Amino acid sequence: MMINFSTVSDHITSQPMFEILSRVQELERTGQEILHFELGEPDFSTPDNIKAAAINAINGDQTKYAPSGGLHEFKEVVQETTLKSRGFKPELNQILITPGANSIIYFALKCVINPGDEIIVPDPGFPTYYSAIHALGGIPKPLQLNENDDFSFSHESLEQLITHKTKAIILNSPSNPTGQTLSSNLVKKVYEISAKNNILLISDEIYARVIFDDTKFASPSTYDECKGNTLILNGFSKAFSMTGWRLGVAIGPENLIQKMTNLTSTIASCVPPFIQIAGIAAVTGDQRAVKHMVKTYHERSKILVNGLNSVKGISCLMPKGAIYAFPNITGTGMNSAQFSELLLRKCNIAVTPGHCFGANGEGYVRFSTVNSDNTIREALRRIKDIFGTKQV
Ligand SMILES: Cc1ncc(COP(=O)(O)O)c(C=O)c1O
Repeated sequence: MMINFSTVSDHITSQPMFEILSRVQELERTGQEILHFELGEPDFSTPDNIKAAAINAINGDQTKYAPSGGLHEFKEVVQETTLKSRGFKPELNQILITPGANSIIYFALKCVINPGDEIIVPDPGFPTYYSAIHALGGIPKPLQLNENDDFSFSHESLEQLITHKTKAIILNSPSNPTGQTLSSNLVKKVYEISAKNNILLISDEIYARVIFDDTKFASPSTYDECKGNTLILNGFSKAFSMTGWRLGVAIGPENLIQKMTNLTSTIASCVPPFIQIAGIAAVTGDQRAVKHMVKTYHERSKILVNGLNSVKGISCLMPKGAIYAFPNITGTGMNSAQFSELLLRKCNIAVTPGHCFGANGEGYVRFSTVNSDNTIREALRRIKDIFGTKQV
């Protein structure tokens, strides 16, 4: 039988990181040992209190359908957590519990994109923004992040991208892939621009808890309490090392959340109740494991970035949060794909080439800081063997 595919289905792509991972796994099947720096997946176990909460919930028969918008108790916890972290208490009907944060990107965009509409996305930025926009018949408008400006942007460059077709702006701080953060002044300015132009502002805050030293986290939600045009996108995958649990939280204007709830109920029905109960344990329980993980990512990023900065042809900004370093490799004379291929073939190191994050990511590669210090040092040793050390 010949399937007549829709135009939109032809634009659906998978996440490039997973494609890279399957290639790497193929190499591993042939007996090669690869050092993994390609996937943004924490290497820690999910903290014990979270696992115990889920197991108890399953044993207590919390295994049936839950309300599509999320458990009432979980939403109450989100209210309190938002009050503590962002200074306002959203209404219960402004909160939606989702199967992972990726689905929030898709559900939110589905509610605002008509074919041909434009969405402003960070470039380099998280690839799902691009694939979701394409899958919905929209057009991504890349907002160039400049390394010289710590991978930030000017509000003028944002304003220049706005047209009558602009439906949403996506911000992501701390950023995947750059590890940098946006200043509170800029976040405020972006909020004002989006509100003035009546554009949905999607703030991807999945790394909000993964922030180093005294770097300040800024959320545009503080200006309208998610009642105007701001939508917070958050998830448990990174901060709580819960990638496989598929748990996310969206906070936004009531009418948008209602539509996104309808989408959740149509597509996934609900997030399993025992997963949500684990989520409650994650945010209300002992935070020492989270603090330890964040401290460890910070230590690792210092080892990795200082090491990379000593390699000929490579320079790298120190991340302020998240689980990535994003070195500039143009001084090696190679492009991102060539550099990544060389690392894989000659050093058995897997990284993600920068162009996977948008055209402006060319000239960079992304290393995830999800390896032990020893593995990072071993990777640096192999890289130095190939490229040599800078003369000081
Ligand atoms: C910036 C950003 N947003 C959203 C997600 C999606 O997270 P998940 O679907 O695992 O909750 C990720 C995962 O890598 C990410 O890096």
